[in-house]
Amino acid sequence: MNKHTFTFAILFSFLIFSCAKNTNTNQLNNDTYTKVNSLMSLMTIKEKIGQTIMYSGDWDVTGPVVSSNNMKLLRDGNLGAMFNVYSAKKTKELQKIAVEETRLGIPLLFGYDVIHGFKTIFPINLGHAASWDIEDIKKSARIAAEEASSEGLHWTFAPMLDIGRDPRWGRVSECAGEDVFLTNEIAKAYVNGFQGDDLSKHNTILSCAKHFVGYGAAQAGRDYNTVNMGEDELRNVYLPPFKAAVDAGAESFMTAFNELNGVPATGNSYIFRDILRDEWGFNGFVVSDYTAINELVTHGFAEDEMNAAEIAIKAGIDLDMMSGAYKSYLEKLVNEEKINVDLINDACRRILTAKYKLGLFDDPYRYSVNARERETIYKTEYLEAARKSAAMSCVLLKNDDALPLSKKETIALIGPLVKDKENIIGNWAAAGDRNGKAISIYQGIKSYLNDTNILYTKGCDINTNNKSGFKKAISLAKKADKIVLVMGENYHMSGEAASRTNIKIPGVQTQLIKALRKEVPNKQIILILMNGRPLDLSEEDSLTDAILETWFPGTSGGYGVADVLFGKYNPSAKLPITFPRSVGQIPIYYNVKNTGRPITLDNPKEDYKSNYIDSPNTPLYPFGHGLSYTNFDYSDITLSSNKIGTSDTLSVLVNIKNTGNYDGHEIVQLYIHDKVGSITRPVKELKGFKKIFLKKGENKRVVFKITNEDLKFFNGYEFLTEAGEFEIAISNSSDFHFKKKFELKVNY
Ligand code: BGC
Repeated sequence: MNKHTFTFAILFSFLIFSCAKNTNTNQLNNDTYTKVNSLMSLMTIKEKIGQTIMYSGDWDVTGPVVSSNNMKLLRDGNLGAMFNVYSAKKTKELQKIAVEETRLGIPLLFGYDVIHGFKTIFPINLGHAASWDIEDIKKSARIAAEEASSEGLHWTFAPMLDIGRDPRWGRVSECAGEDVFLTNEIAKAYVNGFQGDDLSKHNTILSCAKHFVGYGAAQAGRDYNTVNMGEDELRNVYLPPFKAAVDAGAESFMTAFNELNGVPATGNSYIFRDILRDEWGFNGFVVSDYTAINELVTHGFAEDEMNAAEIAIKAGIDLDMMSGAYKSYLEKLVNEEKINVDLINDACRRILTAKYKLGLFDDPYRYSVNARERETIYKTEYLEAARKSAAMSCVLLKNDDALPLSKKETIALIGPLVKDKENIIGNWAAAGDRNGKAISIYQGIKSYLNDTNILYTKGCDINTNNKSGFKKAISLAKKADKIVLVMGENYHMSGEAASRTNIKIPGVQTQLIKALRKEVPNKQIILILMNGRPLDLSEEDSLTDAILETWFPGTSGGYGVADVLFGKYNPSAKLPITFPRSVGQIPIYYNVKNTGRPITLDNPKEDYKSNYIDSPNTPLYPFGHGLSYTNFDYSDITLSSNKIGTSDTLSVLVNIKNTGNYDGHEIVQLYIHDKVGSITRPVKELKGFKKIFLKKGENKRVVFKITNEDLKFFNGYEFLTEAGEFEIAISNSSDFHFKKKFELKVNY
């Protein structure tokens, strides 16, 4: 036994780590606390600081490797976590170094951006949010955790819970859209899906709620830009999804890159200490975003990197992702008495606690098992689940009797994304394969149509000016019954650092649609879109007969989309984010405030009202919008009472009938409007939704329950309800007028 293995053995018998047997949370907490503290009593300050440092592995042709400098840190026992390294083999190799070659043998934590799948890629998060199918989203996170954990990963940098109200911002593709209620539900689904019911199991991973906070409100939609917002917007809109994640048990948080009201998030003790820890009782760990600690200097908030490290650790940031500031300066800061050593102890304790909860001290290699990796990756059932999710995420934006397609029709299948297998899995596709594994739309359609019924040509590129393919596209279109176009953005036009000032379909794609409309005027044009943000589709809306928004639908996307095109799955998705008429309307979202001069419906262009002189206020497609091949008739909305007290439950009932020709799912939405508040309330707020299934001709009574909790808002001091009148509606989108109301009586 060499010196290190000996220390490792001593350490483990001393700590008697056995995480699987704990029976209750308090006991687990006490046990964990004691064991972590006893481990820490053996650690030098350098080793403790080591736990607060995370570096990325680099790629080479054979797989991920670690740069030699990081390897030295690792061997010296001065590295707590790594990311961008995966596979059972590689993680085991690195873990072995941590466990067998360092003085105390503390296992590494492996993190990665497992955002919408690991290998089996699900629709991008904004797309999956459009399914409004909370169980399905949870299932996708569970599958991602199964796959990621089988490749040695312990921790995902997800879910991303930023509210996205600006389609210019490329990162709207990663979020759940513009709405607080929907994002809250999705936040819980991801956290529960990734973490499962027991973190010590080998197939569960830590989640990380990011980016705390306000990142989605970056000015002008430009990534990393400044954010200014008042307490009303912060508390009522941007914070709640993070609170939902804490309540669901999220084990970690990531800082945002932006400043919030003059204080960069990564140095912001108001949000991390006062709100996250003191108010919400969060006791997991906080990681900085990539190099965000030393960016405090560039923000003009820290004098130098040493000062940046001081600010960040004081603000409650436990783990330094990539900046190197903790590595270089934490010890010096203690020696110069600029920070109390307890700050380092706290950070180290939180990170070790997470490792303990994962069972890494019990068996550091439990996640890195080749056999499990082989059995888990791309399981048929996962690919099948991804197909369903893709179908459930497709939003039918318009349909003038052009869809579904029939198997007897001949289609001209045109567009740069028809055969694409690279972009279809979207941005942040983790370890997803861009070289052939994904099912293209072409393959999906081919599974329904004979070769002779598909007349394919690319027509144009995604983002060049080349029109040389137009001629062939037009000639094929003339021979077909219908024209089916697959167009959109490429995957790196959304995601991080991908803000756009022009949110139209790029390149000459729209010009191709125009040419087809002109040259082949009597044939229906169906536009299938892939994109990571709401686009300005005003022109396409008038040029086409149907538009199906598929987002980037993932590894099985081609099959899922074809299921919708041919009516195997009747589209049910609803927009989680507003589609504007033009970039000039941005930011545009449904739950706005009324203003003192709102427009009147019968005269929207009236002078001196809150309107534009060159555009309607209304969006092209509102939040909650999405068509089906069938029709759902909503009637008899009734309330159990028109007055409730704060401890009552209001039942809201609606009758929904499938009056069309197809069976289908409908997402039924409930909205309220708190008419008067000590802080003005939005004109509409989503407060409930249900996904129901109705056979054609079938009728169902759907019931929603509203309690005092649902009516609360932050009034500047606290979350409360205020007595008064509320309007209430049940609808198939946010585009409706309230007809019902009730009164909330306090002390009733
Ligand atoms: C992103 C994070 C991501 C991190 C690690 C950053 O640039 O903002 O969302 O988790 O990189 O890849």
